[in-house]
Amino acid sequence: MKRPVVLYNDPVLRKRSEDVLTFDEELKIFVQELIESMQESKGCGISAVQVGVLKRVFITQIDEEGNSIEGSPIKVYINPKITFYSEDLVTWSEGCLSIPKIYGEVTRPVSITIEAYDVHGNKFEENLTGWNARVFLHENDHLNGVLFIDRINKKERKLIAKSLKNLAARRT
Ligand code: CO
Repeated sequence: MKRPVVLYNDPVLRKRSEDVLTFDEELKIFVQELIESMQESKGCGISAVQVGVLKRVFITQIDEEGNSIEGSPIKVYINPKITFYSEDLVTWSEGCLSIPKIYGEVTRPVSITIEAYDVHGNKFEENLTGWNARVFLHENDHLNGVLFIDRINKKERKLIAKSLKNLAARRT
């Protein structure tokens, strides 16, 4: 893998990513490399920071059930903004490529409206619901240095505490 996925205890995951200012060839190559990293890791989404690049870029590739499916369209979101959150919430189990084999229940809005730029610098708007909203929100959190483990409840945190500790120890 050209750009390996950084893991849980890497401090880069806690940093805020910066807006993309130039939509050039370099960005297109980077997005391609990000796609390769996501697919090789069998993820349904990945943010630039997860390969150590602090740019507001992420990609998703999911089916209706939130699984990573090779045939599903790859979506690229650059400098994304959330303009609407539904009041309806849903609690689902989440994982993360940077926190392998650890899962936790996270409550998030069922649907959102977002604005973002594509790789050519064209602005677009989307209404996302279900798993599409879920994965977007998870990846968008990464751009602000937030991980899904920050959003789980105390009981869930207790359940995964030991696994997290082991994971951190393994990587140092
Ligand atoms: Co993640």
